[in-house]
Amino acid sequence: MHLLSSMRAALACILLLGTAVASAAAPKTMFLFKDVLQSNTTALTTSGFNTLLIFRIGLTDAGDLVYYSTGDAGEAVDAPVVSDGVYTGGSALSDKIRSFKTAANTLVDRVEVSLVSHDTTFQIIRDLVAAEGTGPESTLYRNFAALRTAWSLDALNNDDEGVYDLASTVAFAQMLGGLGLKYTIAPYTNRAFWADALSRINTDNNSQLLDHVYLQVYDGGAGNDPASWKSALGGMKIAPVEWVVNDAKPYEGTSPDAARAEFAEWFAEGSIEGAGYWNDYDVEKMGSSYTEYGNVLTDVFG
Ligand SMILES: *[C@@H]1O[C@H](CO)[C@@H](O)[C@H](O)[C@H]1NC(C)=O
Ligand SMILES: *[C@@H]1O[C@H](CO)[C@@H](O)[C@H](O)[C@H]1NC(C)=O
Repeated sequence: MHLLSSMRAALACILLLGTAVASAAAPKTMFLFKDVLQSNTTALTTSGFNTLLIFRIGLTDAGDLVYYSTGDAGEAVDAPVVSDGVYTGGSALSDKIRSFKTAANTLVDRVEVSLVSHDTTFQIIRDLVAAEGTGPESTLYRNFAALRTAWSLDALNNDDEGVYDLASTVAFAQMLGGLGLKYTIAPYTNRAFWADALSRINTDNNSQLLDHVYLQVYDGGAGNDPASWKSALGGMKIAPVEWVVNDAKPYEGTSPDAARAEFAEWFAEGSIEGAGYWNDYDVEKMGSSYTEYGNVLTDVFG
């Protein structure tokens, strides 16, 4: 009896510990700008990243989903993936994306897709939410449910840089939460909007729905200070994102050593929980090392 109850207590303890460790895992992220069928899956899954963000999914006016990416030679690659609630993207693509979490020696346990405002994505979501709502019969619900299942997704990432419609942002995020997905944001500006969205998305019944803030600290967001974003977002820790060495805007490129110095300082001051990089296309184009960038994250965040 005594033995049994202490075994039970030990088991409960292990389970609790497991939960605590899993939910506290530092995001170590890489944004996948390159077509996932052309990028180096082995390197992406074994270099220290635990979170891969597929950049990007767009919506047609009808709400169909399209995977837009960039090929090895810099060419645009557009692949329709969901139409009218049905996955149409083919098994080569879905097998590849599912393999991120199942490949031999993979360190990846979370796959997200980004929605981006240089498409008309957020206008279309706003208009579809207004026209149909977000119930199980709605276009948005059916299409994102199909994508989640086909690609075994864990989260959607909101990279809105211009529309900032609060009501549809909150309704859409809560719909995704109902599908079992997490929600993340990739802000570079407009703290007031994101603070509002965060507090309305993470209601009492769903306090962990929006669970990571991938703050852009390059380009338009180069002046962003994680500590002040953390304070604007009610104390939520930040995962800053740096741009790797690249030839598009060389002055924005951050070497592994420079990233290490910056991330270590912010981690020591208590404002960040993890970090990541924009983007894999540039790592491969510039012949940089995934391992060196990944090691920075595992060295600083464990
Ligand atoms: C992919 O990356 C690995 C290092 O993890 C490297 O050994 C391999 O050559 C790369 N493959 C290609 C096709 O570049
Ligand atoms: C969660 O709480 C919000 C605000 O109180 C409410 O609007 C929403 O319907 C709730 N969602 C669920 C799934 O209970």
